[in-house]
Amino acid sequence: MAGVPAFIEARRSIRAFRPDPVPRVDLDRLVAAACLAPAPHHSRPWRWVVVDSPDRKAALGRGMGDRWRRDLEGDGVTTARIDELIGASHRKLTGAPALVLGCLTWEGLDRYPDEERQRAEWGMALLSLGAAVENLMLAAAAADLASCWVAAPIFCPAEARDALDLPDDWLPHALVLVGRPDPAYTAPMRPPVPLDDLRAFA
Ligand SMILES: Cc1cc2nc3c(=O)[nH]c(=O)nc-3n(C[C@H](O)[C@H](O)[C@H](O)COP(=O)(O)O)c2cc1C
Repeated sequence: MAGVPAFIEARRSIRAFRPDPVPRVDLDRLVAAACLAPAPHHSRPWRWVVVDSPDRKAALGRGMGDRWRRDLEGDGVTTARIDELIGASHRKLTGAPALVLGCLTWEGLDRYPDEERQRAEWGMALLSLGAAVENLMLAAAAADLASCWVAAPIFCPAEARDALDLPDDWLPHALVLVGRPDPAYTAPMRPPVPLDDLRAFA
């Protein structure tokens, strides 16, 4: 779209990677970019876990997959379809050279006696995590790294935490696959932005 900074337009969700590992120093740069995100009342309520060993990636995939299997069984999905979905998801996670898991913690957030404000406070932390993940992915794109946000942990934060033996108060909510892009992968065409439908002047 005309006028949008090119570095924003350049970021795409890329779901296929070359197998080469990403040096930890490069992953640290992405996490540092994430940590420059705005956060409610200077709180920095996020924690980041870099998962780049095959066994830990597999452990995370298994932990989240077991929970997803139970949910899908509860939904009445057939075993064959469940196996297909969970297998594809597991391959996606283990096929990425590195995973960056964004967690939320209550440390630094305000506490309220009532549930409504407590929920709003957590909502602010989630908004901040989203801004941080976007920073991380923009930094990846600027470094010619591919990335893709994966929703899974927001549906099973406790299982993702336990799969990696994380502290009790680190609750995983966002997972980003990172690696060198597979040159054969083409991102789907991005539909134009229907600004008049999505924006109002008040
Ligand atoms: C919260 C969130 C969850 C997402 N979850 C997934 C996911 O589980 N798997 C996936 O392939 N892409 C996922 N995506 C990526 C979106 O599909 C992608 O951003 C969207 O299609 C727009 O494409 P673009 O990022 O290339 O502009 C997610 C994005 C967000 C913001």
